[in-house]
Order: sequence, then C-alpha cells, then structure tokens
Amino acid sequence: MASTVAEIPSPAVTAGPRPSIPPESKVQSALAAVEVRNLNVSYGTHHAVHDISMDIPAKKVTAFIGPSGCGKSTILRCFNRLNDLVPNCRVEGSVKIHGEPIYGSRLDVITLRKRTGMVFQKANPFPKSIYENVVYSLRIDGVNRRSSLDQVVEESLISAGLWDEVKDRLHASALALSGGQQQRLCIARAIAGKPEVLLMDEPCSALDPIGTNKIEQLMDGLSHKVSIVIVTHNMHQAARVADMTAFFYMGRLIEYGDTDRIFQNPENKQTEDYVTGRFG
Ligand SMILES: Nc1ncnc2c1ncn2[C@@H]1O[C@H](COP(=O)(O)OP(=O)(O)OP(=O)(O)O)[C@@H](O)[C@H]1O
Ligand SMILES: [Mg+2]
Repeated sequence: MASTVAEIPSPAVTAGPRPSIPPESKVQSALAAVEVRNLNVSYGTHHAVHDISMDIPAKKVTAFIGPSGCGKSTILRCFNRLNDLVPNCRVEGSVKIHGEPIYGSRLDVITLRKRTGMVFQKANPFPKSIYENVVYSLRIDGVNRRSSLDQVVEESLISAGLWDEVKDRLHASALALSGGQQQRLCIARAIAGKPEVLLMDEPCSALDPIGTNKIEQLMDGLSHKVSIVIVTHNMHQAARVADMTAFFYMGRLIEYGDTDRIFQNPENKQTEDYVTGRFG
C-alpha cells in the first residue's frame, strides 16, 4: 500500500518577507501549508505523477489546472491520503502539512483527515438534517453540548454562504436542498471541524453560474481562515479565485507561480497554450 521512501528535510525558515518563487525549482518558501517534495504516484505500472515538488502557501487559494488525466486529483488525494484507499496505488516522496509529515507512522489518518477537509465535484451530503450534516465530525469527536453545536452550525453556514437560506429549516433533510445549496452545505461540513487545509476537487463543475459565483465568493472569505487548494477546469475561475496557480501536464508540474503571472506572462509555451485555450 501507499508508502514513503524519502522524507526530505524542509528548507530553513527564512526571516522577513516571503521570497518570490524560483521558477526553476517550482518551490516557494518554507512557510507552507502543504510542502511537497519529490512526490511520485503510480497506479500499478502506470506512473501517474512525476517528481512533484512545490510549497502551497498558507491562508491563500491555490489552483491546480491542466488537461484531463494530468494528475490533479491524484496529487490532491495525496494531501489527505485518500489514495491509501485505491488498490495498487503507490505514493513515494514527502508531503507535510504545516511541517508535519503525513506519510509514515506518527500521524494517524483520522487526525490527518480532520486537518484536511475535502469537497468533491458532486455534492455528497449525508441523508440527515442540515444541522446534523454540519456537526457530523464534532459528534464523532464526542461533542454533544447543544450550545457548542449550535454555534458551530451558525458559524459554518455563515462562512459557507448558506445561513440565510437555511436558518429556518436546520432540521430539514439536506437532500431537499438544491445542488448548489448541497455543495455549500458540504463546504460548511468540511470547515466545521476547522481544518487547516481545504481541498476542493472541481467543486463547481456541477453548478450553474449563480451557484458557481456563490462558491467563489465564499472561497474569498474562507481563505483568511484556511488554506485552500482547488482543482478546476475553468480558467476564468482559476484567474478569479486563486492567488497561486499550478499547471500540470502528463503528471508533471510544468509551471507554478502567482496567478497573475501564470495567466498574463507564463514562461512555458505549454502553459501559455493551455491558459489561452490553444492547447492540443
Ligand atoms: N484509481 C485509479 N486507478 C488507476 N489509474 C488511475 C486511477 N485514478 C487515476 N488514474 C490515472 O492516473 C492519471 C491521473 O488521473 P487523475 O484523476 O489524477 O487526473 P486529473 O488531472 O484529476 O483528471 P480530470 O481533470 O479528468 O479529473 C490518469 O492517467 C488516470 O487514468
Ligand atoms: Mg480529477
């Protein structure tokens, strides 16, 4: 099953302002929410992700872009060890969340998953009430005090931009919500446990422009509290929401940097072709 072959020490933390990203190494500063070094992922004999090293900054939005099959979801799933559940998937290299290695024996997977909320392409609310969806992880942790739960429900739904629409029917079934509301509920559920990193794999692809706009707005507010990584096929969305953008192609990190630079002044021809829609 998934394993780590190398834990590469992180670079020394530098004092003062964060240095800009050296494009040649595609690595940012050491003050990262997620620090990836020499990440390789294979499914059986298929080498899907090739030697990725990058730092994902804290309290920012980072977009992963690239053509279908280039490895975006695979890399995202390495950040909460969801690939552990995929038979024949082998992960090598090092991933750290706020400096702590997540492969290896010291950090248990349950704790890791609490630290890394995840939102998927298709909304997946539990067949429970809106309220119980939001407090799900707290209940598992044994939190049952009504006042504590009420507070988390209100805070999480406000942050997810859903409070006003559901505050009068918190005990109604989550399955009665619209698709866009369900996705915002899933975001509320993902942030209720106060994760350090929020992983979003094409969270808007099943939504209409209004639903998409609501999620983009809430991401803007959330990024002050949590580090966000979003996979998106929508170039406009990446340009709108992301501070940093990483372009992947055939399992390799081709270019990574400030979103404005990636879109306006990419260094790599493949990046330029992709962001301008001339790819292939
Ligand atoms: N469970 C799996 N078993 C075998 N191969 C897989 C599995 N999941 C992904 N792959 C392969 O790994 C490569 C990367 O897939 P991945 O799903 O990470 O790409 P992606 O960039 O997220 O694509 P998309 O934009 O279509 O979602 C592809 O070649 C894919 O076929
Ligand atoms: Mg994917």
